[in-house]
Amino acid sequence: MTKTIIGILGGGQLGMMLSNAAKKVGIQTHIYCPEDNCPASLSSEFFTKEDYNNKNAIERFSKQVDFITYEFENIPIETIDFIKNNEKIRPGKRSLLLTQDRLTEKEFLGSLNIPIAPYMSIETANDLRTAHMEFKDCIIKTRTLGYDGKGQESIKNQNNYSEIFEKIKLKSIIEKKIPFEFEVSVIIARDIENNIYHYPIGKNVHQDHILKHTYSPIKLTDEQTDKLITYSEKIITELDHIGILAVEFFVTKDSILVNEIAPRVHNSGHWTIDACDVSQFEQHILCVAGKKIKKPILNNNAHMINLIGDDVREWVNESSSENTKIHLYNKSEIKKGRKMGHVTYLFDKQHSFE
Ligand SMILES: Nc1ncnc2c1ncn2[C@@H]1O[C@H](COP(=O)(O)OP(=O)(O)O)[C@@H](O)[C@H]1O
Ligand SMILES: [Mg+2]
Repeated sequence: MTKTIIGILGGGQLGMMLSNAAKKVGIQTHIYCPEDNCPASLSSEFFTKEDYNNKNAIERFSKQVDFITYEFENIPIETIDFIKNNEKIRPGKRSLLLTQDRLTEKEFLGSLNIPIAPYMSIETANDLRTAHMEFKDCIIKTRTLGYDGKGQESIKNQNNYSEIFEKIKLKSIIEKKIPFEFEVSVIIARDIENNIYHYPIGKNVHQDHILKHTYSPIKLTDEQTDKLITYSEKIITELDHIGILAVEFFVTKDSILVNEIAPRVHNSGHWTIDACDVSQFEQHILCVAGKKIKKPILNNNAHMINLIGDDVREWVNESSSENTKIHLYNKSEIKKGRKMGHVTYLFDKQHSFE
């Protein structure tokens, strides 16, 4: 019998971990990526190195695979439109369209009555002034192509708004800086039969706007848990999303606000590889392949730490042990702020993360 092949747009570490998970369930992967030597090309059975705007190459790729998914949300929409059999693409175009642009994403969340940070769309330098006056402490974010804090600017007092406006160039939004107590994310999956399961909720700690630690599960009140799950289920259902979705939240003293949505496997779910019976990557592959999913079982509590830039140096000659699992992404060059790998520390289920 021929094996199912899932095509993956994007060749980074998420693609690599998706390919590894696919192998576990007897599915092959075909990575499509514009760069040579990308982390995922070493793990997949098939690899195409072409640009996303190469219509012929995308059409050929789509004929060679049974399903198509993506490992990052900035795939140009035109690329998706080159693919004739739209039903092959999971998650579908709607998830990409609504999450690629922060403004569209916030309007979508607003339409679902899900609480978010107050924001404004920035069209002119004067909009910056107005928002700054109203929000006081605030963050400017590019509407598209931002990740790991890239494309973000803070406004401090007595700024020259025209200068900042010149600097941001791309279409942007500005949001009120939320004095949150902590950040969490819900990693949730939905299959084609509308079975929806989430992972235990983890707390995320960022350094310089880049995720550094995830601790899972964490203690939350029943009311907090209820809101986090209700909002996440509503989002995944309304998007008609098939696969893993990650919802990032700010938890304040008396509220829960959605920060952003990622229509894909997420860094704050990497701990599931070592601590759950089915990882987020395997769960996503099952959804994309049209298989039925089950509620994931937690085997261990976990602390994931990202190896960013030079952090990786002290781990390259180490090997994993029973409770310390090292994952390196085989990137050719160490760069400041670049995610080079992660380590997951496993604990027994009585262990508590405060
Ligand atoms: N409105 C905000 N208030 C407080 N902190 C914020 C706000 N927006 C972003 N941050 C901080 O910056 C991090 C990265 O921002 P995010 O919007 O998630 O962009 P990215 O796409 O780069 O992950 C967040 O996880 C949070 O720590
Ligand atoms: Mg984020």
